[in-house]
Amino acid sequence: MATAADSKLTFTRLPHPAPVPEDAREQALADPGFGTVFSDHMVVIDWDEGTGWHDARIGPREPLALDPATAVLHYAQEIFEGLKAYRLADGSMALFRPEENARRFNQSARRLAMPELPEETFIAACLELVKTDRDWFPSLAGGSLYLRPFMFASEPFLGVRPAKQYKFLVIASPAGNYFKSGAPAVSIWVSSDYTRAAPGGTGAAKCGGNYAASLVPQAEAIERGHDQVVFLDAAEHKWIEELGGMNLFFVMDDGTIITPPLGGTILPGITRNSLITLAREEGLTIREERYSIDQWRDDAASGRLLETFACGTAAVVTAVGRVASRDGEFTIGSGGPGQLTTKLREKLVGIQRGTVEDTHGWVQRV
Ligand code: COI
Repeated sequence: MATAADSKLTFTRLPHPAPVPEDAREQALADPGFGTVFSDHMVVIDWDEGTGWHDARIGPREPLALDPATAVLHYAQEIFEGLKAYRLADGSMALFRPEENARRFNQSARRLAMPELPEETFIAACLELVKTDRDWFPSLAGGSLYLRPFMFASEPFLGVRPAKQYKFLVIASPAGNYFKSGAPAVSIWVSSDYTRAAPGGTGAAKCGGNYAASLVPQAEAIERGHDQVVFLDAAEHKWIEELGGMNLFFVMDDGTIITPPLGGTILPGITRNSLITLAREEGLTIREERYSIDQWRDDAASGRLLETFACGTAAVVTAVGRVASRDGEFTIGSGGPGQLTTKLREKLVGIQRGTVEDTHGWVQRV
């Protein structure tokens, strides 16, 4: 739906009357955790049927005024992305594989009957915000500036059809650890009562509704003392899918790694894809195939399974130490991060931060 002219958008800079004072900013940046601190600016671009994308601007981060009939508030026509900007060892800034986020964003847009945004506009919007809010990188080791591009149906209309107006925004949030405890290994709960996605549904799209539907099972996991919920497939309730915000990998004792295949019900993670490449370079065999909860339990007990880790932009690479379900609990390996989990994490983070050579051209300087 985007036109060729859309890719020529330039960003108008709006004045910021009241940026956050330096001392308050420094305080907020000391240990921001995840998702609670926000930078000073945001990018906004509008889309109207007929005009296409227009009015690209970067200005103060501020509340949006929405008509109560705005379509997204009723039918959840919304998609988003998550990517991080890093400060490299030499002080410069970089994004990690932003073109992959731009591509996935448009895949999500197609599934949610929304207009596509030219990939170069998506990337330009992210770069513009990072350059503008360059002082918003957290000071703690391992910190980054998490970017949240998103698009929603902004037309006030209550009929059920694709909206005729949309807004695309990018906001930025200085980020430390995704898990509050900074946990070396997380504990996960296997949901028996809920599924995340069914064949033909929206599981492969990054849309807000998928995350809303995960909140009750996630709360169940927390109530039972676990960090995250893991979902099984909708048809047989047997095959492991994903954690709702993270993909899973299973490391076997014969140098094989299994990860559930992308069949339309799992989010095609960019961290997942990067780790598959890095693991293959380590000489490991990656098998993208279905793995059942029963097999997981049996392999953990027999020692065939050495490690399990979850990965995602926000969580990076996080070991899974303990798994619990209605049928009982089991521990994976020593219950802490295994050797390969640590190695892959260090390699990925090294590339992202410029301390390990980027042989794939994944790092885009700002
Ligand atoms: C991410 O890893 O960027 C995610 O989108 C997961 C979650 C924070 C929603």
